[in-house]
Amino acid sequence: MTPKAFRKYANDLETFPGDAARAWRSAGAAGVWLELRRRTFDRAGGFSRYLVIEADLSTIREIPMPDGIEIRPFKGPDWSLLGDLGGYRLTRCFARAAEAGRVCLVAWRGSTAVGYIWFSPKMEQCYENFDLSMPPDAIFLWQIQVARSERRRGVGAALGSFGLVMAREQGYRRSWMITRSDNLAAQGTIASLAPSRVFGSVNRIKVTSWMHTRFHVLPTPQPLPRASIL
Ligand SMILES: CC(C)(COP(=O)(O)OP(=O)(O)OC[C@H]1O[C@@H](n2cnc3c(N)ncnc32)[C@H](O)[C@@H]1OP(=O)(O)O)[C@@H](O)C(=O)NCCC(=O)NCCS
Repeated sequence: MTPKAFRKYANDLETFPGDAARAWRSAGAAGVWLELRRRTFDRAGGFSRYLVIEADLSTIREIPMPDGIEIRPFKGPDWSLLGDLGGYRLTRCFARAAEAGRVCLVAWRGSTAVGYIWFSPKMEQCYENFDLSMPPDAIFLWQIQVARSERRRGVGAALGSFGLVMAREQGYRRSWMITRSDNLAAQGTIASLAPSRVFGSVNRIKVTSWMHTRFHVLPTPQPLPRASIL
């Protein structure tokens, strides 16, 4: 085993107790299972299908800030302030990403972080495990998460709207997002904010540390309907 692979598995073991406890508090048994699966079955391999979704930033839906919520850019350095949203594995990655120039917005209820969203001007192999080249006027919506107890109340949409308006002010004309094909919540969120279309998919086969990723562009992009009008 290479030193890099050894460090990865050692980190999985070291961070499991803390992340499992956090997952239990925020998502119950399903959350603990997800932390375990990421460190076992997902490390061994599998097949995943993702959709590449593009949103047009010329019309962004304005979302009123949900009661008691404030959204602010967050650069750390104390990523433990994300509380149960973070976890040890994630907060290490976030610290690196912020240093590398990725932008994080956090939704706060008082002093508690209840959601975050990340943007990046590019995709990078070290974060995405894909390296698709994006059009120069596109911003990449890297990650979005809302605390389970706060979901379906407009926090995700408010984070997205805040971030996309900010990106448009910086000159971006579209956003890209890559999400699992069965993640209806993520697809519903972007479709609720701006006219969106699926224009490709990414299939990934992974066997331990070997990985093959294939980007497939749809012959005709498919409009992504808003969840509430399905
Ligand atoms: C995706 C996520 C951030 C959405 O946050 P949220 O605060 O619950 O979303 P909102 O309440 O603002 O809803 C925004 C839109 O998405 C739709 N939506 C939200 N959850 C949905 C679900 N489970 N199924 C279908 N649509 C959903 C809402 O109906 C709304 O659309 P509408 O205005 O047309 O009705 C949240 O579900 C989450 O944290 N999921 C786990 C992390 C994740 O999967 N992140 C995406 C990785 S790419």
